[in-house]
Amino acid sequence: MTTPITVPKWAQPDTNLAGSTVVVVGGAGGVGEGVVQALLAAGATVVATSRSAGRLDEFARRIDDPHLHVRELDLLDPGLDEAAAELAAEFDGLYGVVLSVADWGRQGRKPLLDLTDPEWEDQLRQNQTTVFRAYRAFIPQLAGDGMILQLNGLSADLPFPMAAAVAAGSAATKSLTRTLAAELGGRGPRVYELVLGFIRTRPRRLAGIDDPGWIPATDVGVHIAEVAAATSPIAGDTLHYFVDQAAGPQAAADQG
Ligand SMILES: NC(=O)c1ccc[n+]([C@@H]2O[C@H](COP(=O)([O-])OP(=O)(O)OC[C@H]3O[C@@H](n4cnc5c(N)ncnc54)[C@H](OP(=O)(O)O)[C@@H]3O)[C@@H](O)[C@H]2O)c1
Repeated sequence: MTTPITVPKWAQPDTNLAGSTVVVVGGAGGVGEGVVQALLAAGATVVATSRSAGRLDEFARRIDDPHLHVRELDLLDPGLDEAAAELAAEFDGLYGVVLSVADWGRQGRKPLLDLTDPEWEDQLRQNQTTVFRAYRAFIPQLAGDGMILQLNGLSADLPFPMAAAVAAGSAATKSLTRTLAAELGGRGPRVYELVLGFIRTRPRRLAGIDDPGWIPATDVGVHIAEVAAATSPIAGDTLHYFVDQAAGPQAAADQG
């Protein structure tokens, strides 16, 4: 059974993704879970991925929805292109892909100049190579009128002391996404970058970290469903910000 979600005030009526398959990479993660729930509520068939079979089992049991499928997927796996093609064949085409992927690394909070070469390389692979490889693997599998969307944080634009490599990855992948959108230039699937403020997620709540002023992860998913279905008033823009719960998602003033 699809669990009903609380819909934000700005939600558009008539967002219907019935018959469309959307892959959420990192779907069992904090923000990913809210995105999966909102896509299911909009009627989509959802494929949530994780690198961990155990995590997927627990996730599928908890969400318990016949339209939810779970698959193991690692964006750094050498067989990623084949895995993306297999998903497209299995689900008779893919309409959307959401990249809800992040990695804080094992180095903890550290000043930039203290990072070791392996720590830097690891962050580069986890937060930049992942996104590049996801685009290369999934874009050819997407419907021409479909979409791919990368979630990102405000460190794409702002300094992030003690997490420089994470911030560098955010800025780099924002650039990557916007350049990809420009290169495709409307030929092929739509490409989106969604920069988020603080999000209320289940893992954070379980860890006792919560704030009613933060944005519910399902609100992020409602926006993504509307972008996918093109019912969002800003579905024609590439760069979106969602940093204030009440204001809802906004198109960046400068899309250039
Ligand atoms: N939480 C917030 O407040 C917040 C704020 C701003 C932006 N965001 C953005 O939201 C997105 C998700 O963040 P989150 O807070 O939900 O973090 P999270 O709970 O740690 O989820 C990140 C996900 O990334 C996946 N992942 C990492 N490396 C991967 C790889 N090599 N291949 C495939 N999947 C991989 C992980 O999947 P498995 O470990 O299951 O394999 C994990 O589920 C990120 O883009 C982040 O920038 C979040």
